[in-house]
Amino acid sequence: MESVFSQAAALILDRQPCVALTGAGISAESGIPTFRSKGGLWEKFDPTVYASIEVFRSDPSKYWSIRGEFIRNYEAYQPNSGHAALAEMEAMGLLSHVITQNIDGLHRKAGSQNVTEIHGSLREIFCVRCGKEYRAPRIPEGMPPLCACGGVLKPNTVLFGEPLPPQALETAWSQASTCKVMLVIGTSAVVQPAASLPYVAKHHGAAVVEVNIEPAFVGADFFLNEKAGTALPEIVTEIKKRNAIH
Ligand code: APR
Repeated sequence: MESVFSQAAALILDRQPCVALTGAGISAESGIPTFRSKGGLWEKFDPTVYASIEVFRSDPSKYWSIRGEFIRNYEAYQPNSGHAALAEMEAMGLLSHVITQNIDGLHRKAGSQNVTEIHGSLREIFCVRCGKEYRAPRIPEGMPPLCACGGVLKPNTVLFGEPLPPQALETAWSQASTCKVMLVIGTSAVVQPAASLPYVAKHHGAAVVEVNIEPAFVGADFFLNEKAGTALPEIVTEIKKRNAIH
Protein backbone atom coordinates (compact mmCIF):
# COMPACT_ATOMS: atom_id res chain seq x y z
CA MET A 1 0.00 0.00 0.00
CA GLU A 2 1.55 3.32 -1.10
CA SER A 3 2.00 5.67 1.87
CA VAL A 4 0.21 9.04 1.99
CA PHE A 5 3.66 10.66 2.01
CA SER A 6 4.51 8.90 -1.24
CA GLN A 7 1.19 9.92 -2.76
CA ALA A 8 1.76 13.55 -1.73
CA ALA A 9 5.28 13.41 -3.20
CA ALA A 10 3.90 12.10 -6.51
CA LEU A 11 1.33 14.89 -6.61
CA ILE A 12 3.95 17.59 -5.96
CA LEU A 13 6.25 16.17 -8.65
CA ASP A 14 3.40 15.83 -11.19
CA ARG A 15 1.58 19.07 -10.60
CA GLN A 16 3.39 22.40 -10.35
CA PRO A 17 3.46 25.10 -9.11
CA CYS A 18 3.00 24.05 -5.50
CA VAL A 19 2.54 26.56 -2.68
CA ALA A 20 2.23 26.13 1.08
CA LEU A 21 -0.15 27.86 3.50
CA THR A 22 1.12 27.53 7.06
CA GLY A 23 -0.24 28.27 10.53
CA ALA A 24 0.85 28.03 14.14
CA GLY A 25 0.95 24.23 14.02
CA ILE A 26 4.20 24.20 12.00
CA SER A 27 5.93 26.17 14.78
CA ALA A 28 4.53 24.11 17.67
CA GLU A 29 7.56 21.81 17.52
CA SER A 30 9.80 24.89 17.88
CA GLY A 31 8.26 25.47 21.31
CA ILE A 32 5.85 28.23 20.22
CA PRO A 33 2.30 27.65 21.50
CA THR A 34 -0.50 27.59 18.94
CA PHE A 35 -3.61 29.71 19.48
CA ARG A 36 -6.61 27.38 19.55
CA SER A 37 -5.23 23.91 20.27
CA LYS A 38 -5.31 22.51 23.83
CA GLY A 39 -3.08 24.77 25.99
CA GLY A 40 -3.10 27.36 23.19
CA LEU A 41 -2.53 31.08 23.75
CA TRP A 42 -6.20 32.07 23.39
CA GLU A 43 -7.12 29.59 26.15
CA LYS A 44 -5.18 31.78 28.58
CA PHE A 45 -5.50 35.23 27.01
CA ASP A 46 -8.65 36.76 25.54
CA PRO A 47 -7.64 37.79 21.98
CA THR A 48 -10.19 40.63 21.99
CA VAL A 49 -8.14 42.17 24.83
CA TYR A 50 -4.58 40.97 24.26
CA ALA A 51 -4.46 41.14 20.44
CA SER A 52 -6.86 43.92 19.41
CA ILE A 53 -5.68 47.21 17.89
CA GLU A 54 -8.30 49.12 19.85
CA VAL A 55 -6.91 47.89 23.19
CA PHE A 56 -3.34 48.38 21.94
CA ARG A 57 -4.05 52.08 21.38
CA SER A 58 -5.23 52.55 24.99
CA ASP A 59 -3.09 49.96 26.78
CA PRO A 60 -0.17 48.61 24.67
CA SER A 61 1.20 46.65 27.66
CA LYS A 62 -1.48 44.03 27.08
CA TYR A 63 -0.04 42.98 23.71
CA TRP A 64 3.52 43.41 24.92
CA SER A 65 2.77 41.10 27.87
CA ILE A 66 2.16 38.21 25.44
CA ARG A 67 4.77 39.11 22.77
CA GLY A 68 7.60 40.89 24.65
CA GLU A 69 9.36 37.70 25.72
CA PHE A 70 9.46 36.30 22.16
CA ILE A 71 10.85 39.55 20.77
CA ARG A 72 13.49 39.92 23.48
CA ASN A 73 14.58 36.27 22.93
CA TYR A 74 14.08 36.32 19.16
CA GLU A 75 17.33 34.52 18.36
CA ALA A 76 16.55 31.67 20.76
CA TYR A 77 13.61 30.48 18.64
CA GLN A 78 14.73 28.18 15.85
CA PRO A 79 12.96 26.53 12.91
CA ASN A 80 12.25 22.79 13.08
CA SER A 81 12.39 19.96 10.54
CA GLY A 82 9.02 21.06 9.11
CA HIS A 83 10.30 24.53 8.21
CA ALA A 84 13.55 22.99 6.94
CA ALA A 85 11.67 20.57 4.66
CA LEU A 86 9.75 23.42 3.01
CA ALA A 87 12.98 25.36 2.49
CA GLU A 88 14.48 22.22 0.92
CA MET A 89 11.46 21.78 -1.38
CA GLU A 90 11.92 25.40 -2.50
CA ALA A 91 15.62 24.78 -3.17
CA MET A 92 14.63 21.71 -5.23
CA GLY A 93 12.39 23.98 -7.32
CA LEU A 94 9.25 22.16 -6.12
CA LEU A 95 7.75 24.81 -3.82
CA SER A 96 7.27 28.25 -5.34
CA HIS A 97 5.92 30.13 -2.30
CA VAL A 98 5.12 29.95 1.41
CA ILE A 99 2.12 31.98 2.57
CA THR A 100 2.30 32.09 6.36
CA GLN A 101 -0.03 33.34 9.06
CA ASN A 102 2.85 33.04 11.53
CA ILE A 103 4.61 36.11 12.88
CA ASP A 104 7.63 34.21 14.29
CA GLY A 105 9.92 34.60 11.24
CA LEU A 106 10.91 30.91 11.32
CA HIS A 107 10.37 30.21 7.60
CA ARG A 108 12.94 32.82 6.70
CA LYS A 109 15.28 31.58 9.42
CA ALA A 110 14.98 28.12 7.82
CA GLY A 111 16.17 29.58 4.51
CA SER A 112 12.89 29.90 2.60
CA GLN A 113 13.21 32.83 0.17
CA ASN A 114 9.69 33.23 -1.24
CA VAL A 115 7.70 33.88 1.91
CA THR A 116 4.64 36.12 2.37
CA GLU A 117 3.91 36.90 6.04
CA ILE A 118 0.26 37.94 5.75
CA HIS A 119 -0.04 38.77 9.47
CA GLY A 120 3.29 40.59 9.55
CA SER A 121 6.26 39.71 11.74
CA LEU A 122 7.57 40.22 15.29
CA ARG A 123 11.03 40.70 13.69
CA GLU A 124 10.29 44.34 12.90
CA ILE A 125 9.10 46.85 15.50
CA PHE A 126 8.37 50.50 14.88
CA CYS A 127 7.50 53.65 16.82
CA VAL A 128 3.87 54.64 16.37
CA ARG A 129 4.86 58.35 16.79
CA CYS A 130 8.05 58.91 14.70
CA GLY A 131 8.10 55.68 12.68
CA LYS A 132 11.64 54.75 13.80
CA GLU A 133 12.27 51.06 13.08
CA TYR A 134 13.76 48.55 15.51
CA ARG A 135 14.75 44.93 14.94
CA ALA A 136 14.17 42.05 17.35
CA PRO A 137 15.76 41.44 19.81
CA ARG A 138 17.29 44.95 20.02
CA ILE A 139 14.50 47.01 21.58
CA PRO A 140 14.57 49.37 24.60
CA GLU A 141 13.67 48.03 28.05
CA GLY A 142 10.29 48.85 29.57
CA MET A 143 6.71 47.63 29.44
CA PRO A 144 5.66 48.79 26.97
CA PRO A 145 9.04 49.66 25.45
CA LEU A 146 9.20 53.30 24.33
CA CYS A 147 11.08 54.88 21.44
CA ALA A 148 13.80 57.46 22.03
CA CYS A 149 11.16 60.04 21.06
CA GLY A 150 8.87 58.76 23.82
CA GLY A 151 6.46 57.10 21.39
CA VAL A 152 5.08 53.58 21.99
CA LEU A 153 6.69 50.75 20.03
CA LYS A 154 4.46 48.39 18.07
CA PRO A 155 5.54 45.12 16.44
CA ASN A 156 4.90 45.00 12.68
CA THR A 157 2.09 42.49 13.17
CA VAL A 158 -1.60 42.61 12.25
CA LEU A 159 -3.79 42.85 15.35
CA PHE A 160 -7.47 42.02 15.33
CA GLY A 161 -9.29 45.04 13.89
CA GLU A 162 -6.38 45.95 11.59
CA PRO A 163 -6.33 45.41 7.81
CA LEU A 164 -3.79 42.99 6.34
CA PRO A 165 -0.91 44.51 4.34
CA PRO A 166 -2.42 44.96 0.83
CA GLN A 167 0.67 43.76 -1.05
CA ALA A 168 0.87 40.60 1.06
CA LEU A 169 -2.82 39.87 0.50
CA GLU A 170 -2.45 40.39 -3.24
CA THR A 171 0.53 38.05 -3.43
CA ALA A 172 -1.27 35.40 -1.35
CA TRP A 173 -4.34 35.55 -3.59
CA SER A 174 -2.38 35.32 -6.81
CA GLN A 175 -0.30 32.40 -5.51
CA ALA A 176 -3.47 30.59 -4.38
CA SER A 177 -5.27 31.15 -7.68
CA THR A 178 -2.39 29.94 -9.86
CA CYS A 179 -1.03 26.97 -7.91
CA LYS A 180 -1.77 23.36 -8.88
CA VAL A 181 -1.10 21.96 -5.41
CA MET A 182 -1.61 23.72 -2.05
CA LEU A 183 -0.11 22.26 1.11
CA VAL A 184 -2.24 23.43 4.06
CA ILE A 185 -0.06 22.93 7.13
CA GLY A 186 -0.88 23.37 10.83
CA THR A 187 -3.76 25.79 10.61
CA SER A 188 -7.27 25.54 12.08
CA ALA A 189 -8.41 27.37 8.92
CA VAL A 190 -10.88 29.59 10.83
CA VAL A 191 -9.33 33.07 10.57
CA GLN A 192 -10.16 35.11 7.49
CA PRO A 193 -8.99 35.98 4.91
CA ALA A 194 -6.28 33.26 5.19
CA ALA A 195 -8.92 30.56 5.72
CA SER A 196 -10.30 31.29 2.24
CA LEU A 197 -7.02 30.65 0.42
CA PRO A 198 -7.44 26.85 0.18
CA TYR A 199 -10.90 27.41 -1.32
CA VAL A 200 -9.42 29.86 -3.84
CA ALA A 201 -6.87 27.20 -4.79
CA LYS A 202 -9.51 24.48 -5.14
CA HIS A 203 -11.77 26.82 -7.10
CA HIS A 204 -8.90 27.21 -9.60
CA GLY A 205 -8.46 23.45 -9.92
CA ALA A 206 -5.64 22.85 -7.45
CA ALA A 207 -5.37 19.76 -5.25
CA VAL A 208 -5.19 20.46 -1.51
CA VAL A 209 -3.00 18.38 0.79
CA GLU A 210 -3.59 19.00 4.50
CA VAL A 211 -0.94 18.26 7.13
CA ASN A 212 -2.34 18.49 10.64
CA ILE A 213 -2.68 16.42 13.82
CA GLU A 214 -6.44 16.76 13.39
CA PRO A 215 -8.55 17.52 10.29
CA ALA A 216 -9.27 21.27 9.96
CA PHE A 217 -9.84 22.06 6.27
CA VAL A 218 -12.95 20.18 5.08
CA GLY A 219 -12.10 20.26 1.36
CA ALA A 220 -8.71 18.51 1.48
CA ASP A 221 -7.98 15.93 -1.24
CA PHE A 222 -5.33 14.31 0.94
CA PHE A 223 -5.12 14.42 4.73
CA LEU A 224 -1.78 13.60 6.37
CA ASN A 225 -2.70 13.03 9.99
CA GLU A 226 0.75 13.77 11.31
CA LYS A 227 2.91 16.43 12.93
CA ALA A 228 4.40 18.83 10.37
CA GLY A 229 7.91 18.13 11.67
CA THR A 230 7.44 14.45 10.72
CA ALA A 231 5.22 14.61 7.62
CA LEU A 232 7.13 17.23 5.63
CA PRO A 233 10.59 15.58 5.87
CA GLU A 234 8.87 12.28 4.93
CA ILE A 235 7.49 13.90 1.78
CA VAL A 236 10.96 15.21 0.90
CA THR A 237 12.37 11.69 1.38
CA GLU A 238 9.73 10.26 -0.96
CA ILE A 239 10.44 12.99 -3.53
CA LYS A 240 14.14 12.11 -3.48
CA LYS A 241 13.35 8.39 -3.85
CA ARG A 242 11.23 9.14 -6.92
CA ASN A 243 13.84 11.47 -8.38
CA ALA A 244 16.43 8.73 -7.86
CA ILE A 245 14.28 6.22 -9.80
CA HIS A 246 13.56 8.52 -12.75
N1 APR B 1 1.88 19.72 13.25
C1 APR B 1 0.80 20.03 12.45
N2 APR B 1 -0.32 20.66 12.92
C2 APR B 1 -0.35 20.97 14.23
C3 APR B 1 0.72 20.66 15.12
C4 APR B 1 1.87 20.01 14.57
N3 APR B 1 2.92 19.68 15.32
N4 APR B 1 0.37 21.09 16.38
C5 APR B 1 -0.87 21.67 16.26
N5 APR B 1 -1.30 21.59 14.97
C6 APR B 1 -2.54 22.14 14.38
C7 APR B 1 -3.77 22.14 15.28
O1 APR B 1 -4.48 20.91 15.19
C8 APR B 1 -4.57 23.31 14.72
O2 APR B 1 -5.43 22.87 13.66
O3 APR B 1 -2.28 23.50 14.12
C9 APR B 1 -3.49 24.24 14.13
C10 APR B 1 -3.27 25.52 14.90
O4 APR B 1 -4.44 26.28 14.80
P1 APR B 1 -4.51 27.73 15.49
O5 APR B 1 -3.95 27.65 16.84
O6 APR B 1 -5.91 28.21 15.32
O7 APR B 1 -3.49 28.61 14.63
P2 APR B 1 -3.69 29.30 13.19
O8 APR B 1 -4.62 28.51 12.34
O9 APR B 1 -2.35 29.58 12.66
O10 APR B 1 -4.40 30.68 13.62
C11 APR B 1 -4.67 31.61 12.60
O11 APR B 1 -5.40 33.22 14.21
O12 APR B 1 -5.13 34.07 16.28
C12 APR B 1 -4.92 34.34 14.97
O13 APR B 1 -3.33 35.76 13.98
C13 APR B 1 -3.46 34.54 14.63
O14 APR B 1 -2.25 33.76 12.67
C14 APR B 1 -3.16 33.38 13.67
C15 APR B 1 -4.52 33.03 13.11
